[in-house]
Amino acid sequence: MTKYYILFGPPGAGKGTQAGTLAKDYNLKHISTGELLRAEIAAGTELGIQAKELIAAGRLVPDTVVEGMIKSAFETVKGYDGFLLDGFPRNISQAKDLDDILAGRGESVTAVISIMISDEMIRERIKHRAAIEGRADDASDETITNRIDTYHSQTEPLIQYYKECGKYHEANGTGTIEEVYARLKAIM
Ligand code: AP5
Ligand code: MG
Repeated sequence: MTKYYILFGPPGAGKGTQAGTLAKDYNLKHISTGELLRAEIAAGTELGIQAKELIAAGRLVPDTVVEGMIKSAFETVKGYDGFLLDGFPRNISQAKDLDDILAGRGESVTAVISIMISDEMIRERIKHRAAIEGRADDASDETITNRIDTYHSQTEPLIQYYKECGKYHEANGTGTIEEVYARLKAIM
């Protein structure tokens, strides 16, 4: 059975930081919808042009856009034991659609692994990254606030959704990268 892990957590929690090592350790393909969207923006595609303003505003891009990316990855990526989804699903509708996509393949979500930090730490981590990576959506306080609000209003309800199906596992995201990694590994 192909594994479908969801790496969950608020913006700046450390999903991208932890995903590379986890994916390597478990032979999973890391798929970050945020990274895929940033690549579309950099390439100047039609999709990138549409996504750019929404991302800069700290809002979600349309469900159909990210679901198209996810489906195409599931269909084309071979040679892994499964997938490590980072930044998807991000609202209840995407979670339900993911369930349908996987059911159509005779499969289901394996587990949700959540990295949890406070809103205060979200701001600290994103500010730190802004100076290093230069991401457009890290540059302004207003965008960061909007991303935090989007997380609480649209993404956080997924915690309950996945708790109800017994798939939700949470790790404390504070401490060093190595400490968080050890907690995630214990869950995996
Ligand atoms: P996305 O790229 O997913 O951004 P995000 O959710 O805001 O998450 P981040 O990438 O900011 O955080 P992260 O958890 O990966 O943290 P990181 O490891 O970098 O999405 C961007 C946008 O695309 C969205 O706002 C939306 O518009 C759109 N989008 C994406 N997916 C979508 C979807 N499914 N539907 C609709 N729209 C979608 O760590 C952060 C910083 O902290 C780094 O500098 C890192 O070095 C540092 N750090 C990490 N761990 C530690 C630690 N333990 N101690 C100290 N520092 C640490
Ligand atoms: Mg990330």
